[in-house]
Amino acid sequence: MVVVLTLATNYLLNTIQILPLQASVQAQPIDRLFSLQFMLIAFFFSLIVVFMGYSLIVFRQRAKDESEEGAYIKGSTGLEVVWTIIPIGIVIYLSYLGSLALAETRRVDPQAVEVKVVAGQWFWRFEYPQYGITSDTLYLPVNRQAHLRLTSLDVIHSFWVPEFRVKQDALPGENLERELRVTPTMVGQFKVRCAELCGTSHAYMESPVVVVSQADFETWISEQLQAIGADPATRGAKWAQTNGCLSCHSVDGSPGVGPTWKGLYGLTDHELADGSRVVVDEEYLRTAIVNPNAQVVKGYPANVMPANYQALLSDQQINDIIEYIKTLR
Ligand code: CUA
Repeated sequence: MVVVLTLATNYLLNTIQILPLQASVQAQPIDRLFSLQFMLIAFFFSLIVVFMGYSLIVFRQRAKDESEEGAYIKGSTGLEVVWTIIPIGIVIYLSYLGSLALAETRRVDPQAVEVKVVAGQWFWRFEYPQYGITSDTLYLPVNRQAHLRLTSLDVIHSFWVPEFRVKQDALPGENLERELRVTPTMVGQFKVRCAELCGTSHAYMESPVVVVSQADFETWISEQLQAIGADPATRGAKWAQTNGCLSCHSVDGSPGVGPTWKGLYGLTDHELADGSRVVVDEEYLRTAIVNPNAQVVKGYPANVMPANYQALLSDQQINDIIEYIKTLR
């Protein structure tokens, strides 16, 4: 029976896909460890079930008159030593394998693609500092390590692509950057989801992950650089899109959480929510972006607009966004 169950486990692990697709170098030691533990647990579970079943049947009460006292057993030092030493040995061995697997998932490749992953309620943003690109889709070249550095703008989120197996929390706070190394092994489309309950839209906090060949990755990079272009307003439109500005500010006059950008620049009597009126010039826009809780923009409820855009956007990017707003007159 033990043999049958172990064979069945083997079959399950090798034939039926009980784990998601394996699509990264780091997933390999993790899956090996998972399979080993699964088989060990199945083996010992079966063993116990066999002994229990045997005892239940063989030592059952057969007839009413079988009422003599059972043998009095005080204990067995030998047995106790055996069933203590064996599990301790197994636990130490598994810890050893676990530390090897952990070291393998953290192996540093100096050729890695650097990606800064920014999590926020409720979106992911991916910055490629080596190229000066920001994207809402995570593009990764296949068979090349990606060095992800994770931060959060607000609460704790968690970066999780099941096919890559490895998972890491993204923490808010300047010195709390966390890193994760992933070497995709399979070209294809995956999804990063948030694995830490982070608010109402937690369940929908997912972004596409696209693994492509090195050549396609380079094409994508040059396309992105081209799209960024030399025109500040075009760049500004892109920053506004990839930094979440447009989820609250419309550019066509329709109402949103924040004021529409359509026709905003140049207004001499822009009415704030508290009834006060301001002139919307470059200075006003800059203050509104860099320090949305400043006196001059106080008309809006505090902390609706994330206050850390200055940390997020470079001065260049803020200038570009202002140039973009100027074109929407
Ligand atoms: Cu972010 Cu859950």
